[in-house]
Formats: sequence, structure tokens, C-alpha cells
Amino acid sequence: MTLEAKIDKTNIPKHIAIIMDGNGRWAKQQGQDRLFGHSSGVESVRSTIKACRELGVQFLTLYAFSTENWNRPKEEVDGLMDLLVQSIANEVDELNENGIRLITIGDESQLPNHCQESLGWAREKTKENRELTLVLALNYSARWEIIQAVKKIAIEIEAKNMSSEDMTEKTFEHFLSTHDIPDPELLIRTSGENRVSNFLLWQIAYTEFHFTEVYWPAFSKEHFLKAIIDYQTRERRFGLVSEQIQG
Ligand code: IPE
Ligand code: IPE
Ligand code: MG
Repeated sequence: MTLEAKIDKTNIPKHIAIIMDGNGRWAKQQGQDRLFGHSSGVESVRSTIKACRELGVQFLTLYAFSTENWNRPKEEVDGLMDLLVQSIANEVDELNENGIRLITIGDESQLPNHCQESLGWAREKTKENRELTLVLALNYSARWEIIQAVKKIAIEIEAKNMSSEDMTEKTFEHFLSTHDIPDPELLIRTSGENRVSNFLLWQIAYTEFHFTEVYWPAFSKEHFLKAIIDYQTRERRFGLVSEQIQG
């Protein structure tokens, strides 16, 4: 039985989030520098997007650069920013051909100007697409996102547009950068690290985690399908007991 045949097409996650980790270690294994690892990781992004389209996944969120990643050597940070601009320029036509909308989360104002321009251009060019939404987390950190939300809420309360009594989970979510996106059902992290590294803390309250040893540049369609098959073995109880779920 092929991996594809093992997948239950009626239980595909709507939203998959991925912490693409291990580019540096993969490159080292190949005797190459870290930037070679990052540029090789773009191929895994392409194959993952293709697999999402084939399966009908509606949102794919990729953790591409965390606020903590600024502390890496300057050469690596500059290389990552250049790779971002170059990849966007190379991929926008294909995104459009495949009905993929690009959006971003994170503090874009701190990115170099050429990145901001390229992202703005790509977002505009792909905004009508509806097959799949590709969410790039860039200069993102979940704690930053939550603090941003709290600041916006404080401003609304000070302006008397809102009262603290109005605050519910739904209202709070409205102030997050992911407000129009459903919570991910599945979070994948590559490279054998079993941690969340400041990614989507609010949104993953009930997300299923799939950790794999594979380094991101080596992550193929087969690994992605295995992650979905693993997800489909889980019983998502949301606090209930098994008998309630099985009806
Ligand atoms: C993930 O790979 C990419 C980014 C964080 C930008 P790493 O660069 O973290 O690779 P490792 O974890 O050092 O192997
Ligand atoms: C998480 O990977 C961030 C991205 C994949 C962009 P890191 O490599 O930065 O995470 P830590 O440092 O191992 O927690
Ligand atoms: Mg890493």
C-alpha cells in the first residue's frame, strides 16, 4: 500500500504549521556552509507546498525566521534575507499558477527594505488566490505577537471603544496576526528538536505535534505524508473522554 493510499482524505488537517529546522546541521553533514543548507531548504518548501495542494490543505504556516534568529552571525542573517527576496522573485508566478496566496506574520517593519518591498509585491500579486494560503512567519515570535495584541487592546480600552468585560477568547484572537486563520490541527518540527521555540503559542493550544529526526532540507513528500498519517492516528479529545468522541 502506498503512503498516499493510507491517507484518509476525509481527515486532512485544514492548517499545518511547520518549524523548518536543521538546515545548518544538514549542511555540515554535507561539508557545506550553513547558507547552502538554507538554500537547499527551499526545495523542501516547494515539495511541501505541492503536497498540501494535492491533499487539499488550506493553510500552511512556515516558521522561516524568528525574532531570536537576528542574533546569529551577520553573514547568515544577511544571506537568509537575500534568499527570501530571491525565492519570492523566483516563485511568485508559480504561486499564481497554483492559486496560492502569500501572507506573512511577524514584525515586518524590522526587515530590510528590499525584503519588505518584495513581500508587499508578492502579497499584492497573489491576494486573489484561494486554493491554499501560505503563511510565512518572518521576524515572528509568539510572545511578541501576544504583547502586540495586549497593546492594541489597551489602546481600544483607553479610547473607550471596548471594555475589559468584552474580552473573550474570540475577541482576543481578533487582535492576533492570525485572526483570519483557523488554529493548526498539526504542527511538524524537523531536526529532532522537541520544542516550540516561541512559535504560535496561543494557536497551538490543542494542536497535535509531530516531531521527526529528519533535517529540513532532507524533508520530502514521503516524510510529509507520514506526518499526516501519524496525525490521523491521534484521537483529538479536547478534554472529553474517548466514549464521547466516538459517539
Ligand atoms: C532552520 O535551520 C532555519 C532557521 C532557523 C532560519 P537552522 O539554521 O536552525 O539549522 P540548525 O538547527 O542550526 O541545524
Ligand atoms: C526555530 O528554529 C526558528 C525557525 C525554524 C525559523 P531555531 O533553530 O531558531 O530554534 P532553536 O534555537 O533550536 O530553539
Ligand atoms: Mg535550528
